[in-house]
Amino acid sequence: MVNCDIIHGDCIQILSTIPENSIDLIFTSPPYADQRRATYGGISPDKYVEWFLPAADQLLRVLKPTGTFVLNIKEKAVNGERSTYVLELILAMKKQGWLWTEEFIWHKKNCYPGKWSNRFRDAWERLLQFNKNRKFKMYQEAVMVPMGDWKHKRLSKLSETDKIRDTSKTVSGFGKNISHWLDRPKAYPSNVLHLATECSNKKHSAAFPEALPEWFIKLFTQEGDTVLDPFMGAGTTNIVANRMNRNSIGIEIVQEYCELVRQRLKPILQLPLLTQQYEIIRQKNCFEIH
Ligand SMILES: C[S@@+](CC[C@H](N)C(=O)[O-])C[C@H]1O[C@@H](n2cnc3c(N)ncnc32)[C@H](O)[C@@H]1O
Repeated sequence: MVNCDIIHGDCIQILSTIPENSIDLIFTSPPYADQRRATYGGISPDKYVEWFLPAADQLLRVLKPTGTFVLNIKEKAVNGERSTYVLELILAMKKQGWLWTEEFIWHKKNCYPGKWSNRFRDAWERLLQFNKNRKFKMYQEAVMVPMGDWKHKRLSKLSETDKIRDTSKTVSGFGKNISHWLDRPKAYPSNVLHLATECSNKKHSAAFPEALPEWFIKLFTQEGDTVLDPFMGAGTTNIVANRMNRNSIGIEIVQEYCELVRQRLKPILQLPLLTQQYEIIRQKNCFEIH
């Protein structure tokens, strides 16, 4: 049986009630600067780092030493120039003690067409991976992909250097012996995820496609582990985590979204709806309530 805690409140305060080193994966998408002001608020780009750092500090505390934090974020262009607050945030989080270990790209396959005077349509978002240590849990076999047509085209014409492990000419340290992959049906994926956005009726304007948290939950957790989304929205991370037999915690500042997620989770958890009493106990800093 897995648990799901849906907590109404400001994540900066609520996170302080969560025990340290207790979370295996943090997967979240906070409000981006100045976007969606009309629905759930926005933060001005020049205040973004200052706004996010107290949450990042708490996230560093609650994450297990072997855990991973994946932050979905994308800076927008203002006055014909890209904002730099995401880059500044990475630098500030590194100073806070985080390691910036990887960056994944979510390519939005179904991005709508449009015409802008000085750029093309924005069809990707960042997924920044942060860790506390260089050694963290990662289950790479869980996300392997079929080798596909590439195998027939590329592996049918192997050069002599494709059959040895040589030193990369770009000094990337990547020695290749592509011939090893000849008989394998599956390969490891790249760090670019090609996923369509979903416009299903989740009653939230910025919900993830379910396949996005699903991929990272597979990669960084096992059954029984705990996944946290401190900016929960419509609860996509929590719903997917629970379906995959992971425990989850979701924090959301808008009460209406908390109720929405509780309704969506009901058939998954088959628990009675969490009541007002839950909120009262929660406010007394009690962590284990189910
Ligand atoms: C981009 S949305 C998340 C969408 C989510 N990934 C999903 O799939 O539905 C960000 C959410 O963070 C919430 N939020 C903003 N500030 C918050 C805070 N300080 N604490 C908790 N939630 C907050 C907003 O109300 C919004 O629902």
